[in-house]
Amino acid sequence: MRPHVFVNVAASLDGKISDENRRQLKISCEEDLEVVDRLRAESDAIMVGIGTVIADDPRLTVKSAILREKRVKEGREPNPLRVVVDSRCRVPLNSRILNDEARTLIAVSKLAPEDRIKDVQKLAEVVVFGEDRVDLSALLDHLYEKGVRRLMVEGGGTLISSLISEDLVDKMRIYYGPLFIGGKNSPTICDGNSFIRRCRIEKIERVGEGFAVTVRF
Ligand SMILES: NC(=O)c1ccc[n+]([C@@H]2O[C@H](COP(=O)([O-])OP(=O)(O)OC[C@H]3O[C@@H](n4cnc5c(N)ncnc54)[C@H](OP(=O)(O)O)[C@@H]3O)[C@@H](O)[C@H]2O)c1
Repeated sequence: MRPHVFVNVAASLDGKISDENRRQLKISCEEDLEVVDRLRAESDAIMVGIGTVIADDPRLTVKSAILREKRVKEGREPNPLRVVVDSRCRVPLNSRILNDEARTLIAVSKLAPEDRIKDVQKLAEVVVFGEDRVDLSALLDHLYEKGVRRLMVEGGGTLISSLISEDLVDKMRIYYGPLFIGGKNSPTICDGNSFIRRCRIEKIERVGEGFAVTVRF
């Protein structure tokens, strides 16, 4: 058994999620950020790849105090569990994702050096799944066993690509902002190896200055 897996990402009209310097860009508008915060608050866990942690240093917490309070009233922690897919345990020890605002789980593979794991274990739980890359299917089973029923994935393109190509995504929402980014080396919604996976468009809606497409797999 695995959780319901929901991917949310913001892209330019040419499908890029950052520029070729992998800088964090403002793609989302205020209205989209509000939707993302609500989706986070409805989730049991939020997952990203280590590429996103290194590029963006995200907190991955619920920004709205009202939504955090609502979670607490429902008997949940104020913020969802944060999950990082990080084969070699490269997560910098001063990353915001390791701060004490929420619990964090770092999923590594057997490639991760023992001494790195020991350092990170002082700040987060570390689990080992897979030989050279994190075995995503095994990780999702583990999250389900821990009580995670709704998992939100927030990128980046390499992790999203693995999840879709391994048939591990149920639903995906892409917010398209009114900009082009360009550059053949700029990260896209789906990087990694080439694959084809058809989906069903469930909803297209205007959101602030852009629009969002929701698809089902
Ligand atoms: N616009 C948006 O909504 C948005 C959201 C998030 C990120 N971003 C952007 O996306 C870029 C980062 O994306 P990214 O593709 O470089 O990184 P990513 O998808 O966040 O992380 C990918 C890394 O995760 C690790 N990994 C371990 N097991 C894996 C598996 N089974 N499948 C896939 N990855 C696995 C690999 O590194 P190891 O082998 O070292 O473990 C891999 O390189 C940044 O520029 C960031 O700004 C944009």
